[in-house]
Amino acid sequence: MSILPIFTYPDPRLRIKAKRVEKFGKAIQKSLQDMVETMYEAPGVGLAAPQLGFDIRAIVIDISAQEEGAPGLIKLLNPEIVSADGEQIGEEGCLSIPGFVSMVKRKESVNVSGFNEKGEPYRIEVSGLLARVLQHEIDHLDGVLFIDRLSRLKRELFKKKD
Ligand code: NI
Repeated sequence: MSILPIFTYPDPRLRIKAKRVEKFGKAIQKSLQDMVETMYEAPGVGLAAPQLGFDIRAIVIDISAQEEGAPGLIKLLNPEIVSADGEQIGEEGCLSIPGFVSMVKRKESVNVSGFNEKGEPYRIEVSGLLARVLQHEIDHLDGVLFIDRLSRLKRELFKKKD
């Protein structure tokens, strides 16, 4: 288990489309454990595999420090948004874009399917902050960053700062 460096924008490795996990086992579990440790150390509420250079569709999330009653640690492989509904606007940041936060529009609730670390099917239906973090982390697996989802005006502000 290790704490690993997190790639930061504009590292091109953040733009890969990560590969589906086909073989569940020890190697995947180790990658997930590194992701969890690195996320807690940062600290952050979520982390996606490409941020550490792992070319797999894997995310880890824990919002329990921010929201009372929230589920604890979630490790999810090959996550897919099956359905989404409503709209929410809230502040977002990213461990790969240190020092920048902005309001981002997301779906209010999502139904996500995937697999747990043992390769068993997993399904989660959530709303609010957890739905936001899930959408943010799943975006990472397709090389999408939250700054890509800002209005043109807000993106200009980001570029000026950059
Ligand atoms: Ni992020």
